[in-house]
Amino acid sequence: METRTALVTGAAQGLGQEFAVALAGRGYRVAGLDLVPQPETAERVPDYVELIADVTDEAQIASALDLVIERFGTLHVLVNNAGVYPESAFEDTTPEEWRRVMRVNLEAPFLMARAVLPHLKAAGWGRIVNITSAAVLTAPPTMVAYVSSKAGLIGLTRTLASALGPYGITVNAIAPSMVRTATAERTVGADGGFERVLLQQAVPRTQQPCDLVSTLLYVVDEGSGFLTGQTLNVAGGSAYL
Ligand SMILES: NC(=O)c1ccc[n+]([C@@H]2O[C@H](COP(=O)([O-])OP(=O)(O)OC[C@H]3O[C@@H](n4cnc5c(N)ncnc54)[C@H](O)[C@@H]3O)[C@@H](O)[C@H]2O)c1
Repeated sequence: METRTALVTGAAQGLGQEFAVALAGRGYRVAGLDLVPQPETAERVPDYVELIADVTDEAQIASALDLVIERFGTLHVLVNNAGVYPESAFEDTTPEEWRRVMRVNLEAPFLMARAVLPHLKAAGWGRIVNITSAAVLTAPPTMVAYVSSKAGLIGLTRTLASALGPYGITVNAIAPSMVRTATAERTVGADGGFERVLLQQAVPRTQQPCDLVSTLLYVVDEGSGFLTGQTLNVAGGSAYL
């Protein structure tokens, strides 16, 4: 079988870096896209293709994809992982902030899927994985824009699965609990955030990036062609679908 190729957004750190490393470990050729350079990821992923681009910008996405195709010749897997999760009281959430969160977390996965589609179709096989959040179900009051964007991403996942099924492409989402990444530690996890989420979980420990890896590899597996349109809730039992 030909070597599968994958593109992970938000690959500089956190979950995206973990996913890029895990896919490389499974033999995928991996490209990563981020706003910033990704030296740590490049160090951990052999022959890593580093793309610096904004996932909300169509022209930047197109140039980045040209580079991927130049290097790999083909593309099979897209992981829409780049995301932002700011917190604010509803009363303090401005329309500008709402739109920013929607653009990065919901519109960008749409733009990315649209851009990669010709290549996945040409390959006759594809996997799109969207990283949503169990916050969609636990609904923290300070994350109105975030929860709305990630709930929208579940809708995009379901409907894209319907639209792309005929091309041999599956589309699924993974919903983590609060994961100990540097960004989460600095933001939502500060001031007891991890401890509060932990109390809601059946699994009595904080989720780590590596806890998501087996689910990602399962979803993109050759044998998972009948799994599509689903949101896999990998949240230690904190939210029930
Ligand atoms: N960490 C958590 O607790 C948690 C829980 C549930 C879901 N998630 C989701 O998982 C994903 C990754 O979370 P993380 O904690 O690893 O985040 P992170 O902040 O560590 O990494 C996100 C990466 O995305 C990049 N990025 C942001 N905006 C971008 C843009 N416009 N274009 C290109 N790249 C951009 C950032 O530069 C960063 O490197 C996000 O979608 C997040 O919503 C995280």
